[in-house]
Amino acid sequence: MTFHEMMEQKTQACSQVLDSFLPDPGQISGSDRLAATVMDAMRYSTMAGGKRLRPMFIMETCAMYGGRQELAEPFMAALEMIHTYSLIHDDLPAMDNDDYRRGRKTTHIVYGEGMAILAGDGLLNYAYETAMQAFDRAENAEETAAVIRALKVLGRNAGIFGMVGGQCADLEAEAAPERTDNETLLYIHIHKTACMISSGFQIGAILAGAPAEDIEKLGQIAEDIGVAFQIQDDILDVTGDSEELGKQVGSDAKDGKVTYVTMHGLKQAAADVRTLSDRALQLYDSLSVSNDFLRQVIEMLITRSR
Ligand code: IPE
Ligand code: IPE
Ligand code: MG
Ligand code: MG
Ligand code: MG
Repeated sequence: MTFHEMMEQKTQACSQVLDSFLPDPGQISGSDRLAATVMDAMRYSTMAGGKRLRPMFIMETCAMYGGRQELAEPFMAALEMIHTYSLIHDDLPAMDNDDYRRGRKTTHIVYGEGMAILAGDGLLNYAYETAMQAFDRAENAEETAAVIRALKVLGRNAGIFGMVGGQCADLEAEAAPERTDNETLLYIHIHKTACMISSGFQIGAILAGAPAEDIEKLGQIAEDIGVAFQIQDDILDVTGDSEELGKQVGSDAKDGKVTYVTMHGLKQAAADVRTLSDRALQLYDSLSVSNDFLRQVIEMLITRSR
């Protein structure tokens, strides 16, 4: 099987896991039917596709340390739910004001702003309900303890000390571009993007009972990969193809955003994606176990066009 075919197969596997945890409005009975629209809106953007990188990182790091996928699945679904909620809210008129996402009209265009806000709220809350299902799957006290640790990582990286904090600084930087320096931009990239990637890299390893030293290293690896990922996102907003990306290009310029590209230029940005990824790969090679597929994913991200 080629790397491309493996990637395709694993993306589908992640989508299936996600699908199995998302509520199906068609199956809801009784008065809960009054909440069917928000459930529809939750599914609309989530099941539109997406690269499923974050759940894939959980799946791969869990496998790499010999963990049970059954225990990881609720977290795979939860992380992608939180990620999708962040995209729904990020696209709202009050934030980036974008009309396309994952190859479709954005949730607020189709369902209206109020329902898009609720779809995000719904996904965020349901994510934790879903992750907590891992307790029912734990087979011993060690696994239960690992689930508690994984929940802490999930919550921390998604919240005010993680992605939400990054989005806060991103929004304020947009209003005051002249005050946005290198340090601020790095804070934004680490928090709005790298923190959710860190959840992907660390949660699988935690659930599998990986050595503490490796979990620490995986956090550092994910920070470099996450910053590189956001720099590449900033590059693709200038040079990418909207069809391939599934979202409009030129969104950052439209919003007058300070990005890695406006600050350092396209050439330096591309060079820094490589430098950060190489540093991540070097540390990756010092882990106590290996996973060639995951290594290839990290390499592929350097030159990704979607
Ligand atoms: C988009 O993330 C938001 C950023 C952090 C740059 P992805 O590029 O992973 O989006 P999907 O999940 O594939 O749609
Ligand atoms: C978004 O960064 C990161 C999130 C936490 C959603 P961007 O605003 O650059 O992501 P895109 O380009 O809209 O996907
Ligand atoms: Mg944004
Ligand atoms: Mg955006
Ligand atoms: Mg972007």
